Amino acid sequence: MTRHLITSALPYINGIKHLGNMVGSMLPADVYARYLRQRGHDVLYICATDEHGTPAELAAKAAGLPVAEFCARAHDAQKAVYDGFGLSFDYFGRTSSAQNIEITQHFARQLKANGFIEERSTRQVYSLADERFLPDRYIVGTCPFCGYEAARGDQCENCTRVLDPTDLLNPRSAVSGSTELEVRETTHLFLLQSKLEGEVEAFVAEAGKEWPVLASSIARKWLTEGLHDRAITRDLEWGVPVPADVWPELAAEGKVFYVWFDAPIGYIGATKEWADAAGAGEERDWRSWWYGTDEDAAGGVRYTEFMAKDNVPFHTVMFPATELGTREPWKKVDYVKAFNWLTYYGGKFSTSQNRGIFIDDALELLPADYWRYFLMASAPESDDASFSWEHFSAIVNKDLADTLGNFVNRVLTFSRKRFGDEVPGGHAAGEAEARLGAEVARLLAEYEEHLDALQFRKAAFALRALWSAGNSYLEEKAPWLEIKSDPEAAALTLRTAMNLIRLYAVVSEPIIPATAQVMRSVFGTVAADRWVTAEQAIALDTVPAGAPFTVPPVLFAKITEDDLVAYRERFGGAEE
Ligand code: MF3
Ligand code: ZN
Repeated sequence: MTRHLITSALPYINGIKHLGNMVGSMLPADVYARYLRQRGHDVLYICATDEHGTPAELAAKAAGLPVAEFCARAHDAQKAVYDGFGLSFDYFGRTSSAQNIEITQHFARQLKANGFIEERSTRQVYSLADERFLPDRYIVGTCPFCGYEAARGDQCENCTRVLDPTDLLNPRSAVSGSTELEVRETTHLFLLQSKLEGEVEAFVAEAGKEWPVLASSIARKWLTEGLHDRAITRDLEWGVPVPADVWPELAAEGKVFYVWFDAPIGYIGATKEWADAAGAGEERDWRSWWYGTDEDAAGGVRYTEFMAKDNVPFHTVMFPATELGTREPWKKVDYVKAFNWLTYYGGKFSTSQNRGIFIDDALELLPADYWRYFLMASAPESDDASFSWEHFSAIVNKDLADTLGNFVNRVLTFSRKRFGDEVPGGHAAGEAEARLGAEVARLLAEYEEHLDALQFRKAAFALRALWSAGNSYLEEKAPWLEIKSDPEAAALTLRTAMNLIRLYAVVSEPIIPATAQVMRSVFGTVAADRWVTAEQAIALDTVPAGAPFTVPPVLFAKITEDDLVAYRERFGGAEE
């Protein structure tokens, strides 16, 4: 038994995420966490909202709320949606928590004490009307290249060119609209990543051996370009304050840490939140997951991170650099699972342009398991993948409704009609059952292998193959014919098929947990079961003759042509 620490990239606080965000971080992490728990491992799955930075301030402004209140509400809204999606976080915290502020400041003190943080003077735009320095994206003006009038100081959204605030024509403050701007000197903290380059290289060379190519290649590319010193403070109202005991002037000026400095530390902060939320008499030791567990084999924590590919540099290079620079034994990532993009009809899912499917809308349309299965079966692992309503409905109708749902209902309904409310006995298992058992054991081993290797698309296919094996067996035995000539033979077939349903109830849990629970309830079990052994798979005799069962409602409704038309209309189909 290993202790598994699992995190998914922390979703930004501004707005409900879309399916593209879900498939590249939280959902696969949840599938993995559920699987490992079933296999008897000690799992801690941590996530949180990433609450700092300019997008949070701007979203709060747009909502007309103080930032703290906006974030509190947005956190709860995201939490509710993730619950609806069946995500089994052990804790869903916030990077703005007292715990994260404390740990982030501790990291900064350590880095400073070890000579990895330095104060540097920079030139920055100051707004006289707002009485504050403006971060680059708080300055708007006309793009000198394309004439777009609302270009930001860091980039023009229209022509995508990267800008410097001083490039803008007619620059004004995004806060007040004032044009009374001037360039002033100000001091910021810089993280001297260049000094840590060698150590980070050694870390990536060692730990990265095991990472999938997508993660290790991005990490190497960043290292080849060299680790540059980076400003890690900003002039914002909302953020982790620079600790006044170390930098009194900067603290007095209201400087806060850059969001990408405190966000990954938020994994640790949220783990401490988890520990602090322990009930009476409950022992939760956050340090045992994070501190001193790298060298100490007895600690035995294996840490797996999930993220989309744009997050890889921060997790493989910058966060490890930050951890190494503390000269304290913080747990570093063992395995980085990175994903390509899921596109919407080949185009970008876009939060700002409201294109694609957001998780709250998705759940309003159909239960989480439809989405969970579809997303895992189309996970953008080896390449980008594209969402289309046509593809979605084909997968739902074929795999979920026909292959799994129909099997379950057909078997249970038929058995009840012919043999009543208890599992029928019939003949002893014969040659067909032995073949089925061997096939199921083989497919189960394949499924496990893919889950162990974090290959989610392949895992979904192996699960589907397990469901198909049931259908093939049923077609071969044809109990609706057996019942006429030899009812005892039909009874055996149905009993075997019911044992398959019981098996599906266990092994489908990581991907479609709600449906798995319905399948378990057929035989009166509620709690998620431990995994299936090869012997159990071969024997298919977990549900004995005489056991009572019930027939659940249809597991998956088919998506009709009319539904398709309505969905395409509501969400937009192919890009015009
Ligand atoms: N909020 C970031 C994003 O959505 C991810 C932050 S991951 C963390 O791209 F580790 F830094 F928190
Ligand atoms: Zn432009």
